Amino acid sequence: MLPVKKSRGACNLPTADQFAMKILFLDQSGKPGGAELCLLDIAKHYRDRCLVALFADGTFREQLEANQIPVQVLTTQAINVRKGSNMLQGFIGLGQLAPVIVKTVQLARSFDVIYANTQKALVVGAIAHFVTHRPLVYHLHDILSADHFSSTNQRLIVYLANHFTKLVIANSKASAESFIQAGGDPKKVEIIYNGFSPELYQNHLSEVPKLRQELGSAQQFVVGHFSRLSPWKGQHILLEALQHCPANVVAWFVGDALFGETAYKQQLQQQVEDLGLGDRVRFLGFRLDVPQLMAACDLVAHTSTAPEPFGRVIVEAMLCGTPIVASAAGGVTELIEPGQTGWLTPPGEAHKLAEIIHQCLADPDRARAIAQAAQTSASQRFHLDAVNQQIDRVLQGI
Ligand code: UDP
Ligand code: GLC
Repeated sequence: MLPVKKSRGACNLPTADQFAMKILFLDQSGKPGGAELCLLDIAKHYRDRCLVALFADGTFREQLEANQIPVQVLTTQAINVRKGSNMLQGFIGLGQLAPVIVKTVQLARSFDVIYANTQKALVVGAIAHFVTHRPLVYHLHDILSADHFSSTNQRLIVYLANHFTKLVIANSKASAESFIQAGGDPKKVEIIYNGFSPELYQNHLSEVPKLRQELGSAQQFVVGHFSRLSPWKGQHILLEALQHCPANVVAWFVGDALFGETAYKQQLQQQVEDLGLGDRVRFLGFRLDVPQLMAACDLVAHTSTAPEPFGRVIVEAMLCGTPIVASAAGGVTELIEPGQTGWLTPPGEAHKLAEIIHQCLADPDRARAIAQAAQTSASQRFHLDAVNQQIDRVLQGI
């Protein structure tokens, strides 16, 4: 008897694993900003059939290697184009990108999909797609607005995304809407939030007393701020708010000036001195133990003065079970249900932030209950497994 052939009905469609789609991820940064940490979690899922190509060397490469993700640094030369750059600076930057473009084109031939995670990666990816015809995906981690981009850069992103990509993954509704409003093609957009492994953020309570002791805050009310030091991340707003709080309220600033904002770092240190807050503020620099530090805080404050595209730190605080107060703009309003899973304050309003700190001090039981509700909800809504499935699905679609 002949062997019976299995039918390939709708429920037997090949999965992404069966396709074993090989992905070339492109990212311009050697430093671990939120977009890079999001990419790290996605690339982990494809580590046996992907390469992350970086346009700069740095600690992000080390983090990828530590997670057994194949990585290659395409150039050691700095590329001097910024989000606010004009046309002329853009052309000079394109010249600097030339060696990266050549290498990317060579690499792309061995992959099925090019996945651009940043703007410069989109430029390079578009050229590599043009030459090799490999489909291009753009992961949009930004809000396209004058707060973040020059008009030249906004137009360039929209043009490249509309003409060269098959798919634009937006990290929030707010980012998607800004893209469409700037002229982006709505049919290309899929909204996929960042994903997280809840277990990495839980069960750190036993480490809390030692950590607080080491940082000299055993008996104080600690407000943590977790972000790179950058004017629009608004660390200065928390310093202003501290003035209106009792003396036992202290602040830990976790994060460094990742993208050259050293003047802002100095400005913050000066502000601490001017306000006489020296014994209530600690700058801890960039840390790899964010979950432990968040668990040790009484409240996490997010203070961005411009709309935040997504805001990983908000979800991370929720997963840690620490109360969160955040600036109500951009993707943040999609993450927090005010009064249920956290608090929202108008961006830039230090007095309002101080009011929330007072409320948490006065009613710690309510703060704890809200934080617990947030932990339960975030563990489901932003679970990495579900997000990876969504990404698999949209990649299969192309
Ligand atoms: N982060 C970190 N160490 C630090 C400060 C921040 O690992 O010292 C991480 C933080 O946990 C979060 C990311 O950096 O995952 C920042 O992402 P977010 O989306 O909040 O902001 P972005 O910097 O991308 O605008
Ligand atoms: C960008 C955004 C941030 C977002 C991250 C991950 O760095 O500034 O808001 O959370 O990407 O998508």
